[in-house]
Amino acid sequence: MTCHPHSVNSERFRALRTNLLFAQRTQGIQSVLITSSVLSEGKSFVTVNLATVLAQTNKKVLLVDADLRKTTLHTILNLENEEGLTSYYYNKR
Ligand SMILES: Nc1ncnc2c1ncn2[C@@H]1O[C@H](COP(=O)(O)OP(=O)(O)O)[C@@H](O)[C@H]1O
Ligand SMILES: [Mg+2]
Repeated sequence: MTCHPHSVNSERFRALRTNLLFAQRTQGIQSVLITSSVLSEGKSFVTVNLATVLAQTNKKVLLVDADLRKTTLHTILNLENEEGLTSYYYNKR
């Protein structure tokens, strides 16, 4: 589920984007880990919405669903899931 652009959640993701871009400039961070210990705590939700607000600033965003047990990003983004990450990797070798 992606947030409506005018929702409070969307505003929070834009604030997160601002803070991350600021931290990139001031502290040189290059990676951020979005994780949790159990299923359904919102990792995919945060990831897809963060990717969306980053893409809205015309940044190139590559979103890879590497959850081999419970892929959900294609469903959220209403995309086909014809080839998984593992098959893609082996087919391209
Ligand atoms: N902050 C949130 N507000 C509304 N719905 C949320 C929120 N976080 C997660 N969800 C919903 O909860 C469900 C599980 O979230 P998901 O991101 O798939 O969890 P995970 O990737 O950690 O397994 C999804 O239906 C998602 O839309
Ligand atoms: Mg997930």
